[in-house]
Amino acid sequence: MSTKAPFIKDLSLPVIAAPMFLISGPKLVIECCKNGIVGTFPALNQRTSDGFEEWLVEIKTALDTFEKETGKKAAPFGVNLIVHPTNPRLEADIKLCIKHKVPLIITSLGAVSQVVDAIHSYGGLVFHDVIKKRHAQKAAEAGVDGLILVSAGAGGHAGTINPMTLVAEIKKFFYKTIILSGCISSGRDIASALQMGADLAYMGTRFINAEESKATDDYKEMIIASGASDVVYTAAISGVHANFLGASLKAAGITEEDLKKDRKIDFGKEMDTEAKAWKTIWSAGQGVATIENVLPVSTLVNNLKTEFKTSIEEQIKVLEVFPK
Ligand SMILES: Cc1cc2nc3c(=O)[nH]c(=O)nc-3n(C[C@H](O)[C@H](O)[C@H](O)COP(=O)(O)O)c2cc1C
Repeated sequence: MSTKAPFIKDLSLPVIAAPMFLISGPKLVIECCKNGIVGTFPALNQRTSDGFEEWLVEIKTALDTFEKETGKKAAPFGVNLIVHPTNPRLEADIKLCIKHKVPLIITSLGAVSQVVDAIHSYGGLVFHDVIKKRHAQKAAEAGVDGLILVSAGAGGHAGTINPMTLVAEIKKFFYKTIILSGCISSGRDIASALQMGADLAYMGTRFINAEESKATDDYKEMIIASGASDVVYTAAISGVHANFLGASLKAAGITEEDLKKDRKIDFGKEMDTEAKAWKTIWSAGQGVATIENVLPVSTLVNNLKTEFKTSIEEQIKVLEVFPK
């Protein structure tokens, strides 16, 4: 029996549009799933569990209607849960995921076997995100179905390990689904992720610049204007290292000195919550370097498909020359 997630073969491209705080909502998720890639969102993008349930119902209803009207199969959708004692909504949100049989759960921070068992009870899958081997081993022991390897340069709370090394290191002991995260912005990048040994590509920053994302136009324009060196890796905003657009740090008056500190800046009341901080200071990965537009998801996915195919065809041609 294959140890890989069964839904992969039904996708139009091996892609998950990654969950992003304040960015992903039903509009983005629905469009991704209609176009054959997995759409996801963090449960905490809704302020309450009631609001979270409303989004679940909205997404399920829209995808059911799409399937009935077109006869096509929508890709599964996923929800990101923060599994940590500081998340007071965890229990209630898990109950809602079970009630609505959310196909894919993406856990961050804690990989807990009870959560995995609860999701498996209705046939759901659990992918867990990690930045290093030790976390991956713990998650594997908890029985997760897939590991999301968050490599250097990724948007949000990124890791520091090169993607090739990270995939190779984790594949030595984990035989289930491997999802690579970090700077995957084009169809060629998706093909490269597969070439490295991943089963799926996890794309965040590229989907900030989808028309259906909740990001403001200024945020999207800053992504287009930024290069890889304009992305700053700092713990100053969250207390945990994450990548942010340098121009947004500058606009918020954050100095080089602040950024060097290995801990969160005391912003005072103005930005006393994570949400307030991330609304003002914009996260993105080094993949901004190749993002030059804002597109509807349907066009974006079509472009990715063409680039993916072209790049694999180019690779096959290499075999006419190498190895020799
Ligand atoms: C603005 C932003 C918000 C994010 N919020 C979350 C989040 O709430 N939960 C999570 O698991 N990952 C979050 N991430 C990380 C993404 O899910 C994903 O790992 C990352 O964006 C992939 O790297 P890329 O942006 O280079 O494509 C966020 C990333 C960005 C850019």
